[in-house]
Amino acid sequence: MKWATEKAFVGFPIENRHPVFGHLHMLKLNTEETMHIAGERSDNFPYTGLLWFGPFHGILICHHPDTIQPIMSTAEPKDEFTYGMVKPWLGDGLLISKGSKWFRNRRLLTPGFHFDILRPYVHIFNECTHTMMDKWMKQSDNGMIEMFEHVSLMTLDSLLKCIFSIESHCQTDVSRNPYITAVYALSEMVLKRVQFPPYFSDLVYHLTYSGYKWRRALRQVHGHSKTVIHQRKQALQDQKKLGIKHNRKYIDFLDILLEARDESGKGLTDQEIRDEVDTFMFEGHDTTASGISWILYNMAKHTEHQLKCQEEIDELMDQKDKDEIEWDDLSKLPYLTMCIKESLRLHPPVPFIGRKLSKPIEMRSPTGKGKVVIPAGERIGIAITGLHHNQHVWEDPEVYNPLRFTPENCKGRSPHAYLPFSAGPRNCIGQNFAMNEMKIAVGLVLRKFNLAVDDFIRIRRYNSIVLRGERGIPLHVKPRKIKTT
Ligand code: HEM
Repeated sequence: MKWATEKAFVGFPIENRHPVFGHLHMLKLNTEETMHIAGERSDNFPYTGLLWFGPFHGILICHHPDTIQPIMSTAEPKDEFTYGMVKPWLGDGLLISKGSKWFRNRRLLTPGFHFDILRPYVHIFNECTHTMMDKWMKQSDNGMIEMFEHVSLMTLDSLLKCIFSIESHCQTDVSRNPYITAVYALSEMVLKRVQFPPYFSDLVYHLTYSGYKWRRALRQVHGHSKTVIHQRKQALQDQKKLGIKHNRKYIDFLDILLEARDESGKGLTDQEIRDEVDTFMFEGHDTTASGISWILYNMAKHTEHQLKCQEEIDELMDQKDKDEIEWDDLSKLPYLTMCIKESLRLHPPVPFIGRKLSKPIEMRSPTGKGKVVIPAGERIGIAITGLHHNQHVWEDPEVYNPLRFTPENCKGRSPHAYLPFSAGPRNCIGQNFAMNEMKIAVGLVLRKFNLAVDDFIRIRRYNSIVLRGERGIPLHVKPRKIKTT
């Protein structure tokens, strides 16, 4: 294995590799510095870099459109080394499955993200953001709020409504619901495991206390999904018998999953439904929370853009008789949309994704001259953060400039230069869902509050599967005086 990988990557640039730890000793804190080592080295290496997880696990990191495009345009499977660690949780859901299973299920689930299904969720996003802002109104006397914690509860609240039609009250309940506690615990444990080589082995992990806690949290999460699915199936059967239609205001993901049928009339098994539900919970909650938190941070840091967004949102909301951003309003916030896109560039919620090649792939050589062939079996990391900070792709990449996303400025840009939601057949199925939620949450917050960063606090990035702040993202939040409706 070691030999094969070594041979495959002869001639590729490599820095500071320890013979035993590879680059792990430098990565273990997963901080701002790690982000740089793992994916933002385009100054010396415009196209690719090599990263070693211990002595045997080499990963080729791609951070240029010319090296990313050949991989993204295929449905190459995920790298089972990293994704394998979440497999006991997510099973064979869309994120991890491959081949014909992934293809069939992606086709069955795509209608669940059709505009007609997403439209009523807009009301849920408004409702959940208002619950969050009501808490801020009570707390903002002392001025500082840690964004990630609040926003992540808000996105969890909305996701539980959209997936299961569950009113969890997770934003306001003092005691945390055991399902939510277990989902949080699993995310944290995955990250710890990826960073600690002895835990790479399933057997070793199984025998440790961490492995025990992992299995306990898994039982909790799977038990919850199972119960909800069973109860819904039962309710659907009862309704059918009585010849009545469901009385909920919208179709949730569980309805879509239960009713999905392929061309032979076959639906998803209970296990497949559970895997998809768990996958949506994993993929849809912290990612969107990260997106919103960093957008609010960028608004706080760049007050000139915050002001422009507020002018835009005030113009829209002043004409309304309710405090709600509606479906038709989503296309009426072009400046806010550019600010969101620029924040997803500078602070992509999913900084890295991984693939394992099932067949050889040709890509631009590390020197930029000619092509190289990467053999089947090798692991590839797509450094989304590295791509978005690559100085050979973006002018002044560290500068927050929403005007990069005017239609004129987008002209001629490679479609693989900007990938917050990945690209190609395995792109993010939830991107419209997420964009809608981000626009509504940020729009409503800027309508109600002025945001500012604290000059004495340096906010440093921290990669915990999704991008967070090392000590959270604390911001000053001050209510605005606005026309009330
Ligand atoms: C700002 C928010 C979000 C970001 C930045 C984001 C980003 C991504 C990225 C980069 C991938 C590719 C992952 C990979 O190749 O390993 C992905 C895949 C996926 N995302 Fe999202 N995501 C977001 C929100 C959501 C939401 C809200 C949902 C569902 C409700 C969702 C569901 C999924 C699923 C199921 C996949 C796997 C798709 C497949 O392989 O066919 N995501 N997302």
